[in-house]
Amino acid sequence: MSEIFEPKKSRFNNPAFKNMCEYNDLMNEFKEDYEATWGRFASEKIEWFKPYDTILDESNAPFYKWFVGGKMNVAHQCVDRHLDTKKNKAAIIFEGDNGDQRIITYRELAYEVNKTANMFKNQFDIKKGDRVVVYMPMIPEAAITMLACAKIGAIHSIVFGGFSAEALKDRIIDAEAKLVVTADGAFRKGTPYMLKPVVDEALKTGCECVKKVCIVERNGEDITWVAGRDYSYNELIKYESSKCEPEMMDSEDPLFLLYTSGSTGKPKGVQHSSAGYILWAQMTMEWVFDIKDNDTYWCTADVGWITGHTYIVYGPLAAGATTVMFEGVPTFPDAGRCWKMIEEYKINQFYTAPTAIRMLHKMGADEPAKYDLSSLRILGTVGEPIDPPAWKWYYEEVGGSQCSIVDTYWQTETGGHMISPLPAATPIKPACATFPLPGIMAEIIDADGTPTEIGEKGFMCITKPWPSMIRNIWGDSERFVKSYFGDCKKDGKPVYFTGDGAMMSEDKYITITGRTDDVINVSGHRMGTAEVESAIKKHPNVAAVAVVGKPHDIKGEGIFAYIVLKAVATQEADQTADELELSKEINKIIKNEIGAIALCDEMAFVPDLPKTRSGKIMRRILRSIVKGEAITQDTSTLEDPSIVGKIESIVRGA
Ligand code: PRX
Repeated sequence: MSEIFEPKKSRFNNPAFKNMCEYNDLMNEFKEDYEATWGRFASEKIEWFKPYDTILDESNAPFYKWFVGGKMNVAHQCVDRHLDTKKNKAAIIFEGDNGDQRIITYRELAYEVNKTANMFKNQFDIKKGDRVVVYMPMIPEAAITMLACAKIGAIHSIVFGGFSAEALKDRIIDAEAKLVVTADGAFRKGTPYMLKPVVDEALKTGCECVKKVCIVERNGEDITWVAGRDYSYNELIKYESSKCEPEMMDSEDPLFLLYTSGSTGKPKGVQHSSAGYILWAQMTMEWVFDIKDNDTYWCTADVGWITGHTYIVYGPLAAGATTVMFEGVPTFPDAGRCWKMIEEYKINQFYTAPTAIRMLHKMGADEPAKYDLSSLRILGTVGEPIDPPAWKWYYEEVGGSQCSIVDTYWQTETGGHMISPLPAATPIKPACATFPLPGIMAEIIDADGTPTEIGEKGFMCITKPWPSMIRNIWGDSERFVKSYFGDCKKDGKPVYFTGDGAMMSEDKYITITGRTDDVINVSGHRMGTAEVESAIKKHPNVAAVAVVGKPHDIKGEGIFAYIVLKAVATQEADQTADELELSKEINKIIKNEIGAIALCDEMAFVPDLPKTRSGKIMRRILRSIVKGEAITQDTSTLEDPSIVGKIESIVRGA
């Protein structure tokens, strides 16, 4: 479907970009004087305590520095500076799983953030630069904790609540966190679930760095308290002052770490800066979501992912918007939950993942028609490619063919949107991220920097540094350089490679074709094959394993594992084990090691893997087999070419 949909102007009033001429003008301004244009926005948008001296310092590339010498504070930018003009405006509207509601104004948010910041300083001895791990459900205290850290210059590292104790422990140790902030648990689909026991388990061994645990009460279920380590947030907060001066932060001081999967080894602690990050979070909120003072904006992500960081908390609040936070799931109590909330809160921008759209389409295609969704102006998608049928349903049934769809392409590392339509300006094509945002020099090139031909796949690179880019991998500068600046060059200079492939059409529209590395995108979440494989290898009967992504109706990609059992590898037996039982045991290990998000959808027990004579697994063959594609790869270099046919018959016969 390459139909073009012109923007529906009727629902816009003075949009950030009215037409493509305005887009082109600004893009040209960036091209003519890149640094000065960024400098102009930084001066306009950020309330500086001390202005910066240098816009961009490239002297230690690729460790770029932006707005050097400037002093500011992200919590001040997101909360305090709004108090003169918006103190009684709703900053956060919270809706719980069971429908309970809390509306927090900017004044109340400032009060809570200050008290929490004081508590962190006074009770837990948290100082500028200390790391605080946050393992929280989707409740306002998660946002308050983030902002309280920002206020005092502590670096937060949020770990998604679906990660296991083992995964939490790895992240705590890597960041050498001093404090863990968590909750007893929360509610999902009408029933309480627990988080604190997972923290207890994680802290059992190896986390000596953690001195204290601060626990927010949400579901009121019984938890165990470790004397001298565990403290109640709700109790301690009572005694703290609601006045707290913001820490004077350098533009480049780290704001947060967020761990994400790479193609090899352990997860990477993506390190973001203060000024550059918040500048782009705010600008994209204004450009891509066209946020206006009266709008109510809702992003359904979890704060544990980058989308939750930038587009539930930091972006909306920096822009002085009203952001909705939802604890529950879109299908409870039924598949009309989101549409009901849109009607009730008169949501203007709704931002979600293609997985949720596919699920809601499948479970309740007629549900949107039962609600008044006429407040909607912009519908957003993020995290994975959206397929044309899901796009069409979203556009027609949810948006009533009157909304703009912004298919936003970006990553944990980019901090904010990179390629996206501008809602009132860009003519959109279904399932297409369209054009780079002004200021983002996104190019599709080969490894040497030559632009790829129209319609040909190439590497999606960002060829100039931008303010919200990743600054480092926590504790591993070498991996940072190698992971992002090792593969592609332009004019002989290493440039940022996203890890994604992309192609451009005749009319310059960009389509993302997916990862070029061993990263699987499950429901819009990145999973490294290496991480899943190392969990599976912990099963005593497993000799070898290779994990690949398999197209999945709802999740986009599911996880498919090819497993060689020890008994088979050593030829003690052909295939004796009970495969169903083994699959259950293996998935249990994955759940313990990583979390339920990494469970394998399917496993095939095979006699061997297709390996070259030097021992390299030919994953492309394995990917072709699960997709049911003909094998076009040269199999003559394999140690045992006959293995391909054997695996094919097992998988296709299954
Ligand atoms: O492969 C791209 C895919 O998601 C990856 C980034 O994942 P993560 O860091 O977890 O961040 C997700 C939320 C920003 C990218 O490398 N991706 C993201 N957005 C899109 C996308 N693929 C296609 N279309 C998109 N709009």
